[in-house]
Amino acid sequence: MKSELFKKAESMLKFSYSPYSHFCVGAALLCTDGTIYTGCNIENAAYGPSNCAERTAIFKAVSEGKKDFVAIAIVGGKNGVIEDFCPPCGVCRQVLAEFCKKDFLILLKDKKNQVKEFTLEQLLPESFSL
Ligand code: THU
Repeated sequence: MKSELFKKAESMLKFSYSPYSHFCVGAALLCTDGTIYTGCNIENAAYGPSNCAERTAIFKAVSEGKKDFVAIAIVGGKNGVIEDFCPPCGVCRQVLAEFCKKDFLILLKDKKNQVKEFTLEQLLPESFSL
């Protein structure tokens, strides 16, 4: 499961639209029904409208009726070359918290193929919700 998610996340690096930062990010989101939604970061000349890879994947899934998720794999690096772990930004953590339970898994991988695994609760404790 993890290796397939990482493979799909890595395969998204080539689609990253990042002419401003040149930092490419790929994500693969596993739904409870076994389907996988992928995403890449999509930047914008006005910067603010840019979208992270994780949110691209979540929004693709939610827009097709999926709302139950198990895990997300995320990789990234300058010019698409993975170096360090690429943890999700604060906005993406909050968006994940909208749909995912505390035990949702966030999977990260670096260039040495070392894997880090966190629950959403670990990365966003005491999160805000209504
Ligand atoms: N980025 C992501 O796609 N996900 C994150 O969680 C952090 C940052 C993107 C946004 C921007 O296109 C580039 O990485 C550099 O910040």
